[in-house]
Amino acid sequence: MKQPVKIAVTGAAGQIGYALLFRIAAGDMLGPDQPVDLHLLEITPALDALKGVVMELNDCAFPLLNNIVATDNADEAFKDVDFAYLVGAMPRKQGMERKDLLSANGGIFGPQGKAINDNAKRDVKVLVVGNPANTNALIAQSAAPDLDPKCFTAMVRLDHNRAMSQLAEKTGTHNTDVKKVIIWGNHSATQYPDLHHTTVAGAPALSKVDQAWYSDTFIPDVQQRGAAIIKARGASSAASAASAAIDHMRDWALGTPEGEWVSMGIPADGSYGIEPGVIYGYPVTCKDGKYEIVQGLDINEFSRARMDATEKELREEREAVADLLG
Ligand code: NAD
Ligand code: LMR
Repeated sequence: MKQPVKIAVTGAAGQIGYALLFRIAAGDMLGPDQPVDLHLLEITPALDALKGVVMELNDCAFPLLNNIVATDNADEAFKDVDFAYLVGAMPRKQGMERKDLLSANGGIFGPQGKAINDNAKRDVKVLVVGNPANTNALIAQSAAPDLDPKCFTAMVRLDHNRAMSQLAEKTGTHNTDVKKVIIWGNHSATQYPDLHHTTVAGAPALSKVDQAWYSDTFIPDVQQRGAAIIKARGASSAASAASAAIDHMRDWALGTPEGEWVSMGIPADGSYGIEPGVIYGYPVTCKDGKYEIVQGLDINEFSRARMDATEKELREEREAVADLLG
């Protein structure tokens, strides 16, 4: 049996936490032969609720679940962790944009970034889920000067999965027939779901749908899917968010299939004209626990305008939290 890996989850008593922990413990993230230690962080008033979640985790008698730490102390939660899911943050309500949460949530991610810097493994893989995810990831990363900035990522995988599923439905195929979707930029209403490089059952996606559907239905529907779920459910997405978070970490750790890619929010490095200083959604391949941006894709004017618009929003978010950046 392998040595257990240590996985931190913040906001562990919240709705995403409740959907995420049981799947990690069941082996959905790292496979059926990888034992896990769960390090669960909550705010002090939620520790009783967290105790209940821990009781349920124990009651599942998961073969892979080795140990649980439940705490309100970030240093303890991030001690020696290999992976950190930063979920704990307030969700938006109907009528809000995700960036409206910056003032409520931004302050959470500096101290957690520092605690990760001081305690986690040097090659820790951090995924920020709490909104606004890209800019919160930037805040956490800037508080961790001893770690490689590439350790810090933000979740655009839910948008990526939504795009695959909506395209499959429109083309009467299965989502496994859809390859090479891209979510560029911010996990927000400016994100750009790009189908120019996408294939459906081996054929170019844009030969299977008309341009009007792509620009006037598909793009806004993917951009607004989070709001549509809040309207329908009265609460923001939880099980699908947890599932996307597991997809993101699994692919980062275990690799992407040959010839395919996924979308991850990662520190911009100048690729595709997006200068450093923001966490931007890119197409990436993963191998041996590392991600690389897919290079050399043609970008037409339609795409360029949308990629620049979502970058602009990220730079504005960055301005708004300048006092939180180390
Ligand atoms: P929730 O309110 O159900 O749970 C959040 C939990 O975080 C609560 O238990 C709360 O006590 C805890 N928390 C708050 N501050 C904390 C801190 N400083 N340290 C540790 N824990 C803390 O919310 P949820 O539905 O689970 O959503 C969590 C976040 O994820 C929200 O910001 C939501 O908008 C975001 N989200 C992101 C995506 C994405 O695709 N990136 C998708 C869905 C939701
Ligand atoms: C989502 O995309 O479902 C989440 O970011 C929640 C939200 O606020 O939309």
